[in-house]
Parts: sequence; structure tokens; C-alpha cells
Amino acid sequence: MAETTGLFVSFEGGEGAGKSTQIRRLADRLRGLGHEVLVTREPGGSPGAEAVRHVLLSGAAEMFGTRMEAILFAAARNDHVEEVIRPALMRGVIVLCDRFMDSSRVYQGVTGNLAPEFIEALQRVAVDGVVPDCTLILDIPAAIGLERARKRALPTAAGPDRFEKEEMQTHEKRREAFLDIAARDPDRCHVVDARRSEDDIAGEIADIIDERLAREADMPAARPEAAR
Ligand code: TYD
Repeated sequence: MAETTGLFVSFEGGEGAGKSTQIRRLADRLRGLGHEVLVTREPGGSPGAEAVRHVLLSGAAEMFGTRMEAILFAAARNDHVEEVIRPALMRGVIVLCDRFMDSSRVYQGVTGNLAPEFIEALQRVAVDGVVPDCTLILDIPAAIGLERARKRALPTAAGPDRFEKEEMQTHEKRREAFLDIAARDPDRCHVVDARRSEDDIAGEIADIIDERLAREADMPAARPEAAR
């Protein structure tokens, strides 16, 4: 059975944490070092999952409830894993994924009020052993993240309205939930303080990934679960 030499890195975090900028920077750096890199995202990343992304993000599934949405996220994830992520890891590619299974734990589980057992049962089917080697949680207080996201959308807008203030509590709850996941899985998860400058954040991420790559190089058979 072939062994995989790839590395699976997921990026998680709330609004305005700068995930996409940091993914781009890390991809450029790794390619500059000669690695083959695949940048992908969830929901989406494969033709089937992109079709489901449209259903989820347009709000078309909202009326059917959080449970239905969670199952759709899982269906999209399974297609993405089997069509794109697992084959790339088998080829030795470094996969950088914008959101993955922890987003379902946080958005559908914690703030969607679905039971952890239900979410974990879905995850087992969705990922079928393809778990990130490394998850970078870009952590930012909800108020700062929302302000950044708002500025990006409307450069001249005034302070947060009532709806945005209500939203703030949900965002803070999600932030706590990501930190909780990191505390329970410290070998996989790294919390990166996303309040700092773009360069400082990129530097810390580069160090974390370099250390992971060095570790993988020492343990060539470290990913048997993807080698099927
Ligand atoms: P996207 O436009 O990609 O936003 P972001 O820049 O925040 O990643 O939208 C993805 C949205 O889907 C985001 O609000 C989080 C949500 N989501 C879930 O609720 N569950 C999931 O499992 C995933 C992957 C995403």
C-alpha cells in the first residue's frame, strides 16, 4: 500500500481573522521552497461540493433547519475529501484548506445547537480518516474581527447597528468554541493571535509549518490513514 507524504493543513477562525491572506502567503512561501501546494476551501473545493456550497450559502437550506444544513455540509465535505483532498495527499501534495471539520463543530454544533454526538457521527462519515495534520486557528476578538470585516465591505460605514451587536455575541461564542477545540487537541491545533500585523502572523505560521514538515520528514509513515 502506498504511503502518503503530503501534509493536510486546515485554517479556521471567525470573521475578519485574515484566513485567506494568510493561506495565500503560506502557499506562495511553500511553492517558493519547491513544494507542490493545493489551496482549497469549504464548503466547496470539488464540483459536487461547490454545488452544495451554493445551496448552503444562498440560505436555500435554512428553512429546513440546522440538522439538514449540517448533513449538507457533511455531504459536501465527503465529496471534497474523496475527490480532491485524499488523492492530493496520496500524491504528496501539501493541502491548505480554508475551513474544515472544526467549522461544523462550531457553527452547526455550538452555535447551531446540534448535539456533539450527532456532529461527530457526521464527521466520521464525512472525513473517513482524513483529519488535518495541523489546524491553524486564527484567533481574533469578535469586536475586532467584525470591525475589520465591516470596513472591508463598506469603508465609510458608521459603528455596528443593533443586528451587528446581537451578532457579536454569536461570534464571541464561536471564538470560545474554537479555543475549546484547540485546548482539547493541542497536538493538531495551533492558536495564532490574529490581532498582530500580517507579517507577524505569517512568520508564526511559517515556523509552525516548517516544524510540522520536519516532523513528517522524520516519520515517513505518519499518515497511514490516508493511504487507502
Ligand atoms: P465563506 O464565504 O467561505 O466565509 P469565510 O471567509 O468566513 O470562511 O463562507 C463560509 C461560511 O460557511 C462561513 O460563514 C462558515 C460557514 N461554515 C459552516 O457553518 N460550517 C462548516 O462546516 C463550514 C465549512 C463553513
